[in-house]
Amino acid sequence: MSLAGRRVVLGVSGGIACYKSCILARRLTECGAAVDVILTAAATEFVRPLTFEALTRRPVHTSLWDRDRALAHIDLARTPDVIVVAPATANLLSRAAQGLADDLLTAVLLATRAPVLVAPSMNDEMYANAATQRSLAMVRERGWAVVGPAIGALAEGPSERPGRMAEPEDILAEVERLIVGADSRLSGRRVLVTAGPTREPLDAVRVLTNPSSGKMGYSLAARAFARGAEVILIAGPTTLPPPYGPEVVRITTTAELLQAVEQRLPDADVLIMAAAPADFAPRVVADGKPSRSDGGFNLDLVPTPDVLELTTARRKPGAVTVGFALETGTATERARSKRDRKGLDLIVLNRADELGSGFEVDTNRVTLIGEHGETPLELLPKPEVADRILDAVERLL
Ligand SMILES: Cc1cc2nc3c(=O)[nH]c(=O)nc-3n(C[C@H](O)[C@H](O)[C@H](O)COP(=O)(O)O)c2cc1C
Repeated sequence: MSLAGRRVVLGVSGGIACYKSCILARRLTECGAAVDVILTAAATEFVRPLTFEALTRRPVHTSLWDRDRALAHIDLARTPDVIVVAPATANLLSRAAQGLADDLLTAVLLATRAPVLVAPSMNDEMYANAATQRSLAMVRERGWAVVGPAIGALAEGPSERPGRMAEPEDILAEVERLIVGADSRLSGRRVLVTAGPTREPLDAVRVLTNPSSGKMGYSLAARAFARGAEVILIAGPTTLPPPYGPEVVRITTTAELLQAVEQRLPDADVLIMAAAPADFAPRVVADGKPSRSDGGFNLDLVPTPDVLELTTARRKPGAVTVGFALETGTATERARSKRDRKGLDLIVLNRADELGSGFEVDTNRVTLIGEHGETPLELLPKPEVADRILDAVERLL
């Protein structure tokens, strides 16, 4: 992810999750953003400004009354691409909702036109309290974005109710979405991505499948979310953690994949078929678990439904459709004919027989084949391949 040349104001109010804001400050800085941190007086009780100064390599702001920076609140309000408040305490939310400007952070929040993202973080009772809910409704009405809170352990012990601050990586994803989404043609578009393998049962316990990890499709879903899209990820069996943001629909067989795509396709502005469906399934699923001692096991395989072909008529007019072709050997012609046959705008050719490419690995070397020719890309990490594919999709939208 690149936030190079971007400016972020990170407001930190006085909650126990302040320690996680240090990680957020570090990650934002690593992504290339210039991060100006504002601590409330209560926040300085939890974490010293020095920590943030070292992490961001920039001066940290703690007071409206700093003689050297008389109009810091106006400068800080004017310059950022986004202001993120993490943690946002009940107290901070209440003060901001009322439009108070009684310290540097609330003054900046009142004086800014930049998008604001808050990450509430507090005891679950404090969060459920009508006063806090009212404050959140008020800031939402003002157009602020809210991330979390999550359900999970609080400083005081386990909880099954919301209150815990969203994880720094999830806050980062929302920050990126606000910044990158502002300039992206994918912002607000519905993007349907399929990922992972499918599995066809052979008997009660055995399956026919392939080694697809789902990494390419998951990267595409996460990167489309970062560009502001509403993303649905239809995922076959994988061990990957669900990406933050997209709605995840789990499927197992190719027939289930077909059904899930059919159901959601009419609303999709973009369809990206990165799943690796099992192309064959047994004609008959054997009963129980045939044993080795029963002798041999003959597989009579029939083709599974061709999801792309069977859903052509359900595509929204003008929708951009991207398919993947995993081939061995010289395969450009085969990929091009697949593109034409299946009515795709773009086909992504990747090679199963090349080191660092295709199944299971974190990198991929692909060729994008569109109406006007081929674009071979270098070997790249899958999230970067995803960005290149999405750049091409944006040009087609
Ligand atoms: C140890 C400790 C932990 C606290 N954690 C939280 C918290 O997670 N969320 C919260 O809303 N308030 C928390 N508070 C209360 C706030 O610090 C208090 O309301 C303070 O006035 C917040 O000021 P600020 O919003 O200006 O930063 C905590 C207080 C203490 C002493």
